[in-house]
Amino acid sequence: MARLSVTLGLCLLFSCAFAQQPPPPAAGSCAACHGQEGQGTAAFPHLAGLGEAYIRRQLDAFASGERANATMKPVASGLSETQRQAVAAYFSSLKMAPADSASAEPPDGPGRELAVHGRWDQELPACVQCHGPDGRGIGEDFPPLAGQPAGYLEDQLKAWRAGQRPAGPQGLMGHIAERLDADDLKAVAQYFAALPAAPKESGHE
Ligand code: HEC
Ligand code: HEC
Repeated sequence: MARLSVTLGLCLLFSCAFAQQPPPPAAGSCAACHGQEGQGTAAFPHLAGLGEAYIRRQLDAFASGERANATMKPVASGLSETQRQAVAAYFSSLKMAPADSASAEPPDGPGRELAVHGRWDQELPACVQCHGPDGRGIGEDFPPLAGQPAGYLEDQLKAWRAGQRPAGPQGLMGHIAERLDADDLKAVAQYFAALPAAPKESGHE
């Protein structure tokens, strides 16, 4: 056990020392809302560890107004193509620290039921099929949901229902959000918000 923690400790040190790129200058202005290390706050989503292609797509959508947000529109419009790519690569290379993560047990109940099992009579697949076990994300295109603020997650589902966010690859999220009612949105958002955003120490990437 002692040996295991030494090894884990070293891995953490190494990833801090070598995997982290220096922040591009354009990333400095993001810290005020998204945190110094992209770790987010109770109100603003974390950017650390989101897929590079995903972040890039969101910045383009904020700039064009397809993803409607009054705060992010001027931010994204102010970045050149090169800067958008640089900040996307940078935040995607950062990792959430365990200390940034929720510690409470995720609530059992309808939110968990929907997240883990879906609802087949409505042809609703389980959220974790695309967002990964424990909502930790899969690859570049399926963002993690774990540890994002509940209010933020709920707002995204509402945005799809209102046509204020592009439905993403193959329109996947648009179809899903339209089958959820107000209670579902709240319950599933609270469930994912309560899961830890940091990768499990014993888990595989
Ligand atoms: C003044 C506050 C503020 C600043 C500064 C800011 N953001 Fe944001 N950001 C937000 C808010 C609010 C949202 C949530 C928008 C929504 O609900 O759609 C957001 C969302 C995002 C998202 C979407 C995350 C997701 O999971 O889809 C990305 C990507 C993002 N911001 C990148 C950046 C980058 C890169 C910078 C710096 C260049 C930046 N933001 C600066 C407030 C800010
Ligand atoms: C068939 C695959 C699929 C399933 C199932 C799925 N999603 Fe998604 N989800 C996606 C994709 C792809 C995106 C990214 C969309 C984009 O690029 O804008 C996404 C994005 C999201 C986001 C935005 C995350 C962010 O950081 O802004 C939320 C919230 C979300 N999904 C919630 C859910 C919930 C809740 C469920 C279950 C009821 C669910 N998803 C099921 C594919 C899926």
